[in-house]
Amino acid sequence: MFGRRRKKMIHACTNRTLYEPRKCSIKMSGLPMERAGILLVSRVGLCAYGTLVSNHMAASRGRMRAKEAMEQRRLGRTDIVASVLGFGGSEIGYEGASGRTVVRLLGSALDAGLNVIDTAECYEDSESLIGKAIGSRRREFYLFTKCGHAGGWSRADWRQAPLVASIERSLRRLATDYLDLIQLHSCSLATLRTGEAIEALERARARGWARYIGYSGDGEAARYAVECGRFDTLQTSISIADQEAIDRTLPLASARQMGVIAKRPLANVAWRYERKPAEPYYQSYWSRLRTLDYRFLKSAPDTAVGTALRFTLGAPGVHTAIVGTTKPERWQQNAALLQAGALPPREFEQIRARWHEVAAGSWGGQV
Ligand SMILES: NC(=O)c1ccc[n+]([C@@H]2O[C@H](COP(=O)([O-])OP(=O)(O)OC[C@H]3O[C@@H](n4cnc5c(N)ncnc54)[C@H](OP(=O)(O)O)[C@@H]3O)[C@@H](O)[C@H]2O)c1
Repeated sequence: MFGRRRKKMIHACTNRTLYEPRKCSIKMSGLPMERAGILLVSRVGLCAYGTLVSNHMAASRGRMRAKEAMEQRRLGRTDIVASVLGFGGSEIGYEGASGRTVVRLLGSALDAGLNVIDTAECYEDSESLIGKAIGSRRREFYLFTKCGHAGGWSRADWRQAPLVASIERSLRRLATDYLDLIQLHSCSLATLRTGEAIEALERARARGWARYIGYSGDGEAARYAVECGRFDTLQTSISIADQEAIDRTLPLASARQMGVIAKRPLANVAWRYERKPAEPYYQSYWSRLRTLDYRFLKSAPDTAVGTALRFTLGAPGVHTAIVGTTKPERWQQNAALLQAGALPPREFEQIRARWHEVAAGSWGGQV
């Protein structure tokens, strides 16, 4: 694609040089090229180069404008300044997205202001897809992954050596020599209490494999992860259908200046299904949303998604929301929805009030 476009540009500029030489005179460090004694024929080449440079600069300016439009928040006490709309890497793995799709999806999202990418050791090929697609742009984004299920979700292993081996494998798959964040992937409270898994992360950080360490999970384990003071960040479920964390963990996480990453921030858009989805992962949110029966979910699809996303990002203490998708245009579409700004306090409080009114005691944070 780039190759074809590049050829076309050189062709156009070459013709213009032959007929309109003055328009193609370019300056380098203030010196007209003629003064430098360069032949016309090389000016043709330089002109093509100049056009490429100016097109590239125009594209860069466009990208910078898009990036400026995306709000960023500092992730707690870390030095990470995260785009509020991040990318969740589970869908590309579990849905078997192609390499080409991931190149388009992540490449265009990076151009438009994405700088947070989250994945995990067990999201099928997600790590490799990300590494192959944008490994060459590594300095442009913060990379988060997780460990604990290197052999698959049902085969958790929280001993130190397998965790360290899993992190090493993630580095290879992600085509990088450092992670910005390594997270324990939803181990239990009992596992956290033994301390061995946390030590594995601390060792990885000491070796320079990860700059920060975090816990990804919910409920009592998430609360302990905040209380124990050993993690830099908490990744936890927060959405219109999952509000436990807003009361249970976020206030303390904020007080301790932990970075907070909202997972499942759109409640999987479970309201889009007319009937209970066959996929168990979507079922609890689907049922909760039926009971919650928010009026705004009956509005136009974009309004509903935009309100849901702005709710999550409005929860005090949340720094970034990692939305999962396999669709190349989705990140930009959701970024555009955020241009509406913060959800008005009244709308935010209405969603909170409805939750407090109907949420059953069993509606804990969903892993
Ligand atoms: N235990 C853990 O650590 C844990 C657990 C769960 C999730 N996570 C992390 O959180 C990330 C996000 O979670 P998730 O993907 O399950 O939930 P999510 O982000 O709430 O929902 C993703 C779903 O929303 C749809 N969607 C996104 N934007 C949309 C729009 N504008 N209109 C309609 N549909 C839209 C996507 O469909 P399309 O594909 O059609 O866009 C996708 O199916 C994961 O990728 C993962 O990184 C971590």
